Amino acid sequence: MKNLLLLFPFLFLLLSSAVNGAHNITHILEKHPGFSTFNHYLTVTHLADEINRRQTITVLAIDNGAMNSLLDKHLTLPTLKNVLSLHVLVDYFGAKKLHQINNSTTLVSSMFQATGAAAGTSGYVNITNLKGGKVGFAAEDNDGSLHSFFVKSLQEFPYYISVLQISNPINSADAEAPTAAPSAIDLISIMSKQGCKSFADLLRGSKALPAFKESIDGGLTVFCPTDSAVNGFAPKYKNLTDSQKVSLLLYHGVPLYESLQMLKSSNGLMNTLATEGANKYDFTVQTDGEDVSLKTKVNTVSIIGTLIDQDPFVAYKINKVLMPRELFKASDADDEAPAESPKPSKKKGKKGVHDSAADAPADGPSSDSEDQKAADEDSNNVSGLHDGVRLVSAALFSVLIGFLVL
Ligand SMILES: *[C@@H]1O[C@H](CO)[C@@H](O)[C@H](O)[C@H]1NC(C)=O
Ligand SMILES: *[C@@H]1O[C@H](CO)[C@@H](O)[C@H](O)[C@H]1NC(C)=O
Ligand SMILES: *[C@@H]1O[C@H](CO)[C@@H](O)[C@H](O)[C@H]1NC(C)=O
Ligand SMILES: *[C@@H]1O[C@H](CO)[C@@H](O)[C@H](O)[C@H]1NC(C)=O
Ligand SMILES: *[C@@H]1O[C@H](CO)[C@@H](O)[C@H](O)[C@H]1NC(C)=O
Ligand SMILES: *[C@@H]1O[C@H](CO)[C@@H](O)[C@H](O)[C@H]1NC(C)=O
Repeated sequence: MKNLLLLFPFLFLLLSSAVNGAHNITHILEKHPGFSTFNHYLTVTHLADEINRRQTITVLAIDNGAMNSLLDKHLTLPTLKNVLSLHVLVDYFGAKKLHQINNSTTLVSSMFQATGAAAGTSGYVNITNLKGGKVGFAAEDNDGSLHSFFVKSLQEFPYYISVLQISNPINSADAEAPTAAPSAIDLISIMSKQGCKSFADLLRGSKALPAFKESIDGGLTVFCPTDSAVNGFAPKYKNLTDSQKVSLLLYHGVPLYESLQMLKSSNGLMNTLATEGANKYDFTVQTDGEDVSLKTKVNTVSIIGTLIDQDPFVAYKINKVLMPRELFKASDADDEAPAESPKPSKKKGKKGVHDSAADAPADGPSSDSEDQKAADEDSNNVSGLHDGVRLVSAALFSVLIGFLVL
């Protein structure tokens, strides 16, 4: 028994390190000093956070020499971020799979494509098997020449993350194009184009808009409710006074750049553009596995997507309008039914009546048995990371049992 007690802190450490994400790109690259410049820029552009957050990803790393040739172009940091994000493929390619590409050539989506910053398909990377086992890489809009080649595999954790060295940076006129100065970013048009038209329309004519624009330079995070959420909320919105409407809109902006990874690790109280003084117009951020939700005293909303992520500006799509306690009572959230909701939550604990009413997706599971079914199905769906964690827990459990038997 004494042995067991001694073991606990150790087991706990082991388990928590397994739960805290399967990979850390910074850590992986630290083992390869020849890639320190690339590693440094993944960190300062916040791309490292995004890489760690994702599963099934391939990082095309370039060594310090190749990185210097890229830095010689004197790109601004946001532009460099675009270029580097073209080097992060949102699919898993180990050295083996690389050499088995069907029909010898393929286009793979990169994080540059995923940020919404790329025009058309310019965020795709062309991978082509050439003669003699050579594998070439180029931006999708290449001029017929592949200018970068697979060198070696640095680290592979199938099918979570693969880090491959390529010989040269992937050139792309589109990724290297100067990014708009932050304050020139047209919030309204970006939001309108990316499925947040109704919210953008409210903002367009509002006295709240200048506060959003003025914040962009120093960092701005916008939580944008879906069109159906805004439309469903219209009767309540109309009921507000003009200044309350301004406060409600401001409540959906945070004057800081918060990447999803940062949101997930903040897990606490967050002030908004509407905040003046202590404990006003704030909400809390809650993380459950990969899901991030925002909790006001009145309702809980889920982040269901990213509209744009261009440090210092990021906008997320949320499934409901955030209702601050300064403007609404808990009972106001009762008739809320979001049209879109994230995948059924694994943990449906015993929540308050208001909470569960507000949480229940219009088309989602409602009864307990359905919830259970969804949870069961979900646990059968081997989604990499969780599975790994389960495996580790199982292993630890058997170690524990072993000790108990002794
Ligand atoms: C990743 O690794 C680096 C270097 O080892 C460390 O400083 C950083 O805190 C780690 N990040 C996370 C999220 O664990
Ligand atoms: C090529 O096609 C085969 C069979 O359709 C598939 O198993 C394999 O994964 C594909 N390879 C790649 C690199 O997509
Ligand atoms: C391979 O090429 C053929 C003909 O060009 C096409 O029909 C087929 O769909 C391609 N297969 C893959 C896996 O891309
Ligand atoms: C990739 O680029 C090469 C060279 O320009 C080209 O021949 C090939 O068709 C491209 N592959 C795809 C899938 O576009
Ligand atoms: C509008 O406000 C009145 C008075 O506060 C309230 O009784 C009514 O329920 C509100 N309507 C909506 C749709 O929230
Ligand atoms: C399980 O995964 C499959 C394929 O990825 C998907 O079609 C299905 O909807 C998933 N089921 C659940 C319960 O998430």
